[in-house]
Amino acid sequence: MKAIRYHEVGEVDVLKYEDVPTPEIGDDEVLVRVRAASLNHLDLRLRAGKSPRPVELPHIGGVDASGDVEEVGKNVTNLSPGTRVVIDPTVKTPKGPSVMGVNFHGGFAEYVKVPGANVVPIPDEVSYDDACTLPVCSVTAWYGLYERGGMQRGETVLIHAAGSGTGSAAVQVAKGGGAYVIATAGSDEKLEKVKEIGADATINYNTSDFSEEVKKITEGKGVDLIFDQVGASAWENNLKSLKPKGRILLIGVVGGGQTTFNFGPIIMRDLSVLGVTVFNAPRKNLTNMINLVSLNRFKPVIDKTFPLSEAAQAQKMLEDRSQFGKVILNP
Ligand SMILES: NC(=O)c1ccc[n+]([C@@H]2O[C@H](COP(=O)([O-])OP(=O)(O)OC[C@H]3O[C@@H](n4cnc5c(N)ncnc54)[C@H](OP(=O)(O)O)[C@@H]3O)[C@@H](O)[C@H]2O)c1
Repeated sequence: MKAIRYHEVGEVDVLKYEDVPTPEIGDDEVLVRVRAASLNHLDLRLRAGKSPRPVELPHIGGVDASGDVEEVGKNVTNLSPGTRVVIDPTVKTPKGPSVMGVNFHGGFAEYVKVPGANVVPIPDEVSYDDACTLPVCSVTAWYGLYERGGMQRGETVLIHAAGSGTGSAAVQVAKGGGAYVIATAGSDEKLEKVKEIGADATINYNTSDFSEEVKKITEGKGVDLIFDQVGASAWENNLKSLKPKGRILLIGVVGGGQTTFNFGPIIMRDLSVLGVTVFNAPRKNLTNMINLVSLNRFKPVIDKTFPLSEAAQAQKMLEDRSQFGKVILNP
């Protein structure tokens, strides 16, 4: 089969479109013919050797994939060839999560093998492209905002990097749940699009101090909840942007993963800091997102699709921060 594989970590040119053996499945596994696989910021960090969990080389990435069941192992009795599915990338093991595209080969290939328990059927009205955007970004949005953040209708939510795959999902999930959504991004062009998907107010974090803008928008009150994908560079201003008893969801660290901080404001203003890891999210988060797409209540934002052979150009788009929403490979 054809796959995108890398034998060393580095820039996008380490990604090679090559022939590799088609995986052979065990009794509890299924082989999926991949129709769509979406890119995540995580793929860039793994490929560049900058992730705290390094991959075993050579590696085939791709945490998010959808397609058709091609072959089933003899212990897999609830699935048959031809079933349209999306893959839940997290295999729960006694030692913790083992993740497709990180700990074992992923979906940037014509075929991928996973345990039978990890494939989730999708209805006909959910396209392969839409389905493959759900397991990481959309599940993070739902799990983060509701299960970790306890978001309530009528709350004010600040969503950073709202043009990212995860941010564009979070804007829609928060708005759909009745929140007032303030969204940030790095360009006015992205902010126009963020408004189109439901943000009530927007802030360009490259041209203004977002905590000052939040103050103006909320008439000095601050926000109830922050969905933060930026990390260290936003930390101080995040604290300034929260109401007393406000919560901050730590999602990502594109702006740095370490900072020093003063415990004072967190103690004195009853603030809560909550970590979020999609790989800990229960399965119901994914089935819920599939249902919302099927009911037309959630529409994944897809910027561009590429053939598998053009994976390097696709990753370059994310590296240049030029995408809005998700970028997809169609093997
Ligand atoms: N905790 C979890 O379980 C979980 C799950 C999913 C994603 N994440 C994290 O969430 C973040 C977004 O992931 P994604 O896949 O949705 O990302 P993505 O689609 O690649 O978008 C990332 C966006 O972050 C913004 N950004 C701000 N500062 C940046 C910097 N210094 N370098 C690069 N980008 C920067 C850029 O938008 P602007 O140009 O508008 O600034 C960029 O487009 C990542 O940190 C990822 O690891 C975490």
